[in-house]
Amino acid sequence: MATLACLAADTASGAEIEVPRRSSTIDRAAAELRRSLPHLPAAVMLATSNASHLALLDLDTRALGHEGYLIREVRIGNRAVILVTGNSDVAVLYGAFALLRHVRASESTAAINIASAPAIPLRLLNHWDNLDGSVERGYAGQSLWDWWTLPDFKDPRYDDYARANASIGINGTVLNNVNAKAESLTAPYLAKAAALADVFRPWGIRVYLTARFSAPIELGGLKTADPRDPAVAAWWQAKADEIYRLIPDFGGFLVKANSEGQPGPRDYGASHADGANMLAAALRPHGGTVVWRAFVYADTDPTDRAKQAYSEFRPLDGKFADNVIVQVKNGPIDFQPREPVHPLFGAMRRTRLAAEFQITKEYLGFATHLAYLGPLFEEALDTPTGQAPGQTVAATLGAISGVANIGRDRDWAGSTFNQANWYAFGRLAWDPKLSSQTIAREWSRQTFGNDAQVTDTVTAMMLRSREAVVDYTGPFGLAHLFGPDHHYGPGPWIADLKRPEWNPVYYHRADSDGIGFDRTASGSNAIGQYAPTIAARLARPEITPPQFLLWFHHLPWTYPMPGGETLWSAVVRRYDHGVAEVEAMRKQWATLKSRVDAERWAKTDAYLGIQAREARWWRDASLTYWMSLNHLPLPAGSPPPAHDLAWYKQQRFPFAPGAPH
Ligand code: GCU
Repeated sequence: MATLACLAADTASGAEIEVPRRSSTIDRAAAELRRSLPHLPAAVMLATSNASHLALLDLDTRALGHEGYLIREVRIGNRAVILVTGNSDVAVLYGAFALLRHVRASESTAAINIASAPAIPLRLLNHWDNLDGSVERGYAGQSLWDWWTLPDFKDPRYDDYARANASIGINGTVLNNVNAKAESLTAPYLAKAAALADVFRPWGIRVYLTARFSAPIELGGLKTADPRDPAVAAWWQAKADEIYRLIPDFGGFLVKANSEGQPGPRDYGASHADGANMLAAALRPHGGTVVWRAFVYADTDPTDRAKQAYSEFRPLDGKFADNVIVQVKNGPIDFQPREPVHPLFGAMRRTRLAAEFQITKEYLGFATHLAYLGPLFEEALDTPTGQAPGQTVAATLGAISGVANIGRDRDWAGSTFNQANWYAFGRLAWDPKLSSQTIAREWSRQTFGNDAQVTDTVTAMMLRSREAVVDYTGPFGLAHLFGPDHHYGPGPWIADLKRPEWNPVYYHRADSDGIGFDRTASGSNAIGQYAPTIAARLARPEITPPQFLLWFHHLPWTYPMPGGETLWSAVVRRYDHGVAEVEAMRKQWATLKSRVDAERWAKTDAYLGIQAREARWWRDASLTYWMSLNHLPLPAGSPPPAHDLAWYKQQRFPFAPGAPH
């Protein structure tokens, strides 16, 4: 033991942290434990599996891979220690955080024996942060990156950000918006990105940048960005070489191409694969990856926006280079409170896929509404693809991305409860088999302490919260009923925007007789993009899961629901239920007033008040509009809307945060 660098000891508990070999990463792991020493009941050793001290233990760590960890009570010499090990320094760091989580949850390390390796190798945050400091769809203040003062000033919060990410296993971060500016690839901005990469590196986090496809024209003065033009390829190769000189472990490029006005290879008649592979060739000598987004929809295809990404990308399966990952949003439209999973999962067997989730709540009430997204992520990850026996969406993934909800707000995410969504994303990215309930409890304990009443109440609130938002914004698979641009309040009546699929009426198709989008064979046949076993369940309304009923079917208002009530009455009941659920959350939170610190209690209470008012607004506006079409009365006991339709239509939100600019 004499050779051990003993970094710290708590004389009260006798606990100490032993580190046979130091590194910038292992020092950080030790520092994390040191902060918590009073809670550590025993000595801890942090060592990679090749440390000579571990030779006699005969541990088999092969299954842990590069990032997995093992935490076990062992005897070394004549002493019992809790060993935290893995095959790399970052694995030991992840193990240290896992030990802290364990101690927090069980308050003991007796007989500890935990082995865990990440299920998905690339676990990324995608920041939609602009160089001017604004954040597209960001509701937690300005961008955390102060581009103006970088690279000279490195705000201590950059380190805290990386700590938080490492604690949940995030290993990559895309710094800038998918609606990219070419300037982020200029020398001054690369130096700024390199400064951030230096801060993040010891925490196991690689930096990625978005790449504007037309950058060779805008920065390089070329006449074209055609991926088949050798001068274009050479420009990107030189750019990649320049980046790697500054950031030797640069992760790669994230690209939004030919989508919502962004430039791309289609501008030149080339395919997404041509574009992605050209960039991949530039990164390949350095070990970098191209993450190419499948979020595309064109105004030239009138049938069904939900079908377009599949139609464009499925034929390209097998054509992407092996350092390309195609990043697919969790659902086929756009981060709605509920969507069925995207049909591309499982359908591109010869392509590495990433799932993209939105942690920021663009369509779930921004920062104010409480919506715990663990159940949303879990639901998508656990969905069978039907493409191979027992295959879930999670099993098809080589990467997972979460659109970050982080900003410069003191609470990082716009509200305390929004932090849980960042946390849940990371935990599920590491282990998609975790339940969102387990994660909610774990988060609550680490956030509010171990008071059982707080944990139980907070967990119960979280678990009902997302479904409440679904109910008051769009039950039974209704989607995209939001006011345009801001995506905050209801706008189901909107019908006058230039492109058909920008209008909510395109999605709900309601009229005097019925409501819903027919995506069966008699309609757009989007169900034909799913595996046959899945499609069979969606072909008829009687066997379609009720939460997706109106996503896949257009049904009469009088359609008989299981249990006998009409569709209209069931729809009203769900809106009412959503409103009631928010009231219930408010009451639950009120019971914790004396058990949670005053500052966080008061902000959450105020936000729940906003949510209660706005849930009612959503419900009233939506029902008023549906009734203007179907002329049906509200079922007995359901209160009349507060205003007439004209009032709801008049509401304006000119300075709503997060809108693109
Ligand atoms: C949504 C969002 C945009 C964003 C886009 C994307 O449409 O409203 O702000 O740019 O998704 O994912 O690229």
